[in-house]
Amino acid sequence: MKRLLTLAMSLLSLSVTAQTVASMNELNAVQKAAATNVKLTGKLSTGGNSDFRQLRDLCYQLRSIDLGSADCEAIPNNAFHSRHVLEQVVLPENVRSIGSQAFFACTALNSIELPKTLTRVGDAAFSGCTKLRDITINGTPTLGEFAFARLSGLRTLRVNSAVPPVTSASTFEGIDRKKVKLVVPRGSEMKYRRAEGWNRFFGTPDNDNRLCNPAEALVPVPAHLEMTGGNPLSVNRLWEVMAADGLANECVQAERLLRERLPKIKNPVIAGKATLTLGIDTSLADDEAYTLVVSEKGVTIQGRTARGVFYGLMTFDQLLRGNGTSVCCESIPQLRIADQPRTHIRELMLDPCRTFIPFDELKAFVPEMARYKYNTIHLHLTDDQAWRIEIKKYPELTAQASARVGMDDMMVPISGYYTQKQMREFVDYAAQYHIQVVPEIEMPGHEVAAIHVFPELTCGAKQVPIRTTCGVSNELLCPGSEFTFEFLGNVFKELADIFPSPYIHLGGDEAGNPALNCWTDCPKCQALKRQLGITTTDRSENWRLQEYMFNRVIDTLRTKYGKTPMFWYETDFKKIQPGCVTFAWRHGLTKRALEAAVANNAKIMLCPGEHCYFDYPMAPGDMPEVNWGMPIIPLKRTYELDPAWGMGSDFEQNNLFGVAGTLWSECINTPERIYYQAYPRALALAEVGWSPVASRSWEGFLKRLSPVLKDMMRRGITFSMQY
Ligand code: ACM
Ligand code: ZN
Repeated sequence: MKRLLTLAMSLLSLSVTAQTVASMNELNAVQKAAATNVKLTGKLSTGGNSDFRQLRDLCYQLRSIDLGSADCEAIPNNAFHSRHVLEQVVLPENVRSIGSQAFFACTALNSIELPKTLTRVGDAAFSGCTKLRDITINGTPTLGEFAFARLSGLRTLRVNSAVPPVTSASTFEGIDRKKVKLVVPRGSEMKYRRAEGWNRFFGTPDNDNRLCNPAEALVPVPAHLEMTGGNPLSVNRLWEVMAADGLANECVQAERLLRERLPKIKNPVIAGKATLTLGIDTSLADDEAYTLVVSEKGVTIQGRTARGVFYGLMTFDQLLRGNGTSVCCESIPQLRIADQPRTHIRELMLDPCRTFIPFDELKAFVPEMARYKYNTIHLHLTDDQAWRIEIKKYPELTAQASARVGMDDMMVPISGYYTQKQMREFVDYAAQYHIQVVPEIEMPGHEVAAIHVFPELTCGAKQVPIRTTCGVSNELLCPGSEFTFEFLGNVFKELADIFPSPYIHLGGDEAGNPALNCWTDCPKCQALKRQLGITTTDRSENWRLQEYMFNRVIDTLRTKYGKTPMFWYETDFKKIQPGCVTFAWRHGLTKRALEAAVANNAKIMLCPGEHCYFDYPMAPGDMPEVNWGMPIIPLKRTYELDPAWGMGSDFEQNNLFGVAGTLWSECINTPERIYYQAYPRALALAEVGWSPVASRSWEGFLKRLSPVLKDMMRRGITFSMQY
């Protein structure tokens, strides 16, 4: 650890005036990690491990970048996505386009000058650059949707063109015109005043396009939607929430969403209040089912439980958002929705091990999932690269295994862990959104962080450094050592107390491929084999040691804590204990995993790599451009997932547990990039998990996606636009 800290400090203290090079390949790894100030002079590369990718992902301390003498016509999409310390950029003199989200959430960027050569600024290119004070536009580039949205620090926008550059109505979304001085050539002000987008600087334009077409507004699409006719409900008025007993949380949530959609009521068209009535209807068929009725006077939501009412509220929020041209629509047609989910667990998995997710960022992820009716967040809390949860019995774990330098080629210091107090707070917070938190502690593989702290956990008690690269380690927990079970017992005891979810995930992946070999030569494992009557001495029956280990831990979890164990399915699991939940994740092995679950009377979570690994790029060239060889998962592929995998209704009723999307973080190096990887695929998966087949269609989904994505851009949520 000391060595890692010394390395981190030496990176920080390396003296770094401007590094002037033709290409990033001229700098070595340490120089890139230490660089604060880079000037590039050559022809810049844009694909794969390009100059841009290296600047963004390897120069994590970069504050100033001068491309003024470089040759580059196109700044790529996401070029400096969420670089929080980048303050200054000089663009190439021959630049013609800036890609979408190129400077998304560069929250320290203080000014930008766009050269005359520029013809296009992509969607959300500078969105969320909250310290950007001065913008100078020298030519007449077309400015994309939300290109300069959410610039709360903007004070001067100078446009040296008598013709207003073409913009969208949303280009300057969120601009406070009282604080921003728009400077345009003398005599051209009238033209700007009349031009779409620019008119924001002269008074809030009346958006007369704020419609709600319910059939094109909802993701996931509801099971039944019926238009009932009559006068629409005007929403721009005072609202009163009336909630039945037991719905105090839903009442608070309802008031929050009304505040967000209708922050101040201007010119109410109708004087009387509208009423949002929340109630319970025990005749509904499912705990998550709800009905939602819009009348001229208000909205009534009824759920079988508070969960159903909450999902009705999430639907109501999307109706209020309407076509996404504004925070809120003007009116909602009268209608009736009757809705319930197809699968009961709809999960996203986060990995704070490879890249730590600060606590507040972790919390922020929850409401966004809840909008689309996800109900489970799965936290991968330990791995080869870090131990991220405080265990009171073993404070050494977080003291010695929660800080390191490096994730593959990124020599960045990564540190942090969650205290138990924070995790309890997180559980309570997520519960307000009806999301349960499932913790995962890996065994017997992916456990190098713990082994690093307690070498006696592995065969031969080897000293093993924390891993700083992705991939699979050969070190496994030793099933022949009683300390392994004592350790796991103590860890699970504390976890069971923190996390009230009935599920605990035990990992189980990538231990036998080929790592189970670790157990072959270990005297303790050999002794255990003899005790279990295993006569072979090669690795052919090592899987039985894995079975022994899982059986012991599963029995403890069930009998002592009433928990249902979960694990990643591997073919090494020759038997699965009935009632456990296995996760079908490996490319090409889904059918086998399903058959194993059925044969063993177990439940199965569908998160097949072909559809649900959101950490993989969504299109060729999309982030992460450099990775371990990840396949591409297009949005349509996620949408096409059949959660029943063609196995029929018996399987669906008896074995299907739910659907999950994974966000492994080997390549996700900022909190914003978690959203970028997750969305919009998580929207497709939300619909896969919630909506009945009869309501779904790819074309319909694309139509309904459009207002959702506009709303995300308006709220500053990033997502991949490469679909
Ligand atoms: C996994 O992706 N290793 C479960
Ligand atoms: Zn062993």
